[in-house]
Amino acid sequence: SATLRWGVPRPRAAKRVIVAQAGAGSYKVAILGAAGGVGEPLSLLIKMSPLVSALHLYDIATVNGVTADLSHCNTPVEVAGFTGKEELAGSLAGADVVVITAGVPRKPGMTLDDLFSTNAGIVKELVEAVADHAPGALIHIITNPVNSTVPIAAEVLKWKGAYDPRKLFGVTTLGVVRANAFVAATKGLPLADVDVPVVGGHAGTTIVPLLSKARPKAAFTDEEVEELTARVQNAGTEVVEAKAGAGSATLSMAYAAARFLEASLRGLDGDADVYECAYVQSQVVPELPFFASRVKLGREGVEEVVGSELRGLSEYEARALEALKPQLKASIDKGIALVQQQQ
Ligand code: NAI
Repeated sequence: SATLRWGVPRPRAAKRVIVAQAGAGSYKVAILGAAGGVGEPLSLLIKMSPLVSALHLYDIATVNGVTADLSHCNTPVEVAGFTGKEELAGSLAGADVVVITAGVPRKPGMTLDDLFSTNAGIVKELVEAVADHAPGALIHIITNPVNSTVPIAAEVLKWKGAYDPRKLFGVTTLGVVRANAFVAATKGLPLADVDVPVVGGHAGTTIVPLLSKARPKAAFTDEEVEELTARVQNAGTEVVEAKAGAGSATLSMAYAAARFLEASLRGLDGDADVYECAYVQSQVVPELPFFASRVKLGREGVEEVVGSELRGLSEYEARALEALKPQLKASIDKGIALVQQQQ
């Protein structure tokens, strides 16, 4: 079948196999926050990517252990560690993609918005450094609350004169991965075939899986729609509670981030027809300057924001979309205001 390293369909699988055999990956990736719960397993997955030539690991905590450990895996990706702020610039030099996963995760009882004050400052500082030392790189933001940290990053980049909206992404792939897994289980479908677009934002009820647009086409009862939607929206909390104070989703997040990275690299590499959902600057919902929907990925990042899936929604989805607008708008405005106040 036309799949799969990380679950991404591969229309040109034959070419990819040759690249993997030759060890001819050519992209440089920097992970900021690489010593963390998400950063470590994500580093491992990237170390296995046939598209990557160099992996730079940066954290304020030491990354020496992770770097030494990973460097013993006999894949061609070269791994280098950068610990502490004085090494941040070096970690970014030459990066094609910068993945930001630095920040504090949720503990039981916290909402994603509770992370705002700490994580906003971290994202601001790191994106400033990306503007200075890796202008032109794609930026993948994992750090929550994504609904606000992406607008923060955009404002910082504008202020630095380095904003290209095609290159800034909030990573919402975990919502898609979860929706695919839950729909496959509920409907007894083969996992690799299921594709559910997830739109809106990336926190609670701003996350809207479009079950009416799921492939393969499946019929859902009203109860199934409500249960599946609520489960996708609350899946993060499910993990936070199961980990009971030890953090939030890390392994599934790393998997999702690796899938989104691979799609982005395939876009940079010129593969046709690379589509993923992501939270980007958008005009598909006029009152929301940032919105997650399916995007086409190409040589410069976002080649096209696909709005067509928002047409012909079920009544339930249309209501959910209307209901998320004030909350998502408030999160966007909060991020923008933070940067503007500090200038
Ligand atoms: P963690 O606490 O295990 O790791 C965070 C890492 O960031 C630590 O190694 C820490 O030293 C580092 N860090 C903190 N400040 C830094 C700075 N200024 N510069 C560089 N590194 C810095 O947390 P975890 O579980 O890895 O989560 C990281 C972030 O990812 C959290 O904000 C979490 O909410 C978010 N997340 C997002 C998801 C999504 O779907 N977008 C899903 C899961 C987590």
